[in-house]
Amino acid sequence: PAAVIVAIDGPAGTGKSSTSKAVAAELGFGYLDTGAQYRAITWWMLNNGIDVTDTAAVADAAAKPVIVSGTDPAAPTITVDGVDVAGPIRGQEVTSRVSAVSAVPEVRTVITELQRSIAASAERGIVVEGRDIGTTVLPDADLKIFLTASAEARAARRSGELGGKDAADLAATQAALARRDAADSGRKTSPLAKADDAVEVDTTDLTLQQVIECVVTLVQEKQ
Ligand code: C5P
Repeated sequence: PAAVIVAIDGPAGTGKSSTSKAVAAELGFGYLDTGAQYRAITWWMLNNGIDVTDTAAVADAAAKPVIVSGTDPAAPTITVDGVDVAGPIRGQEVTSRVSAVSAVPEVRTVITELQRSIAASAERGIVVEGRDIGTTVLPDADLKIFLTASAEARAARRSGELGGKDAADLAATQAALARRDAADSGRKTSPLAKADDAVEVDTTDLTLQQVIECVVTLVQEKQ
């Protein structure tokens, strides 16, 4: 039988990564974090002295870095030109610049092709998480999920992950998330959007375990 393709999209802080990894592990599927790929190309641009506000320079360099994603949900990996960048791509420098780089059409073309080839080589199935998976990358996915949560819930989760300690940390995280979501939703080329045939799951009042169970059930209904 053909591999089962699950697309999970939504803004930052909705639990996409935690949910996607757990669902993939439970079903014996692969897992692809497409945000990590956009972060990796952004890291490479910064590391190579490319001005990421210079759209033409970013476009010219888009095909140069060799990005490799490991799809084991128990231990996902990401390398650029053979360098393990799993740590640095989570830093504030990359996080604050990734939306500018990911808005460049040449970058999206390169990364989208990579994502499609990884999905095409999936065996039992693959869970692909991102912003435009259901709308653009894999429009024929067997199941599309769009995760949402209130701005407050998303900021609280992300601030917790970052080790935030007080109300000021929380406010700063909420502002940074809002900026990134506005950029990702407002860009011209494949913006963050819910596909018409996606199932929307509002995770504000759900535990991670409840979201995982909900998605696993939806996948099993498709099999
Ligand atoms: O998911 P994560 O927050 O790591 O994604 C980082 C950034 O990568 C997003 O803010 C967005 O700019 C970009 N991205 C994208 N399309 C995707 C996944 C991520 O543009 N499919």
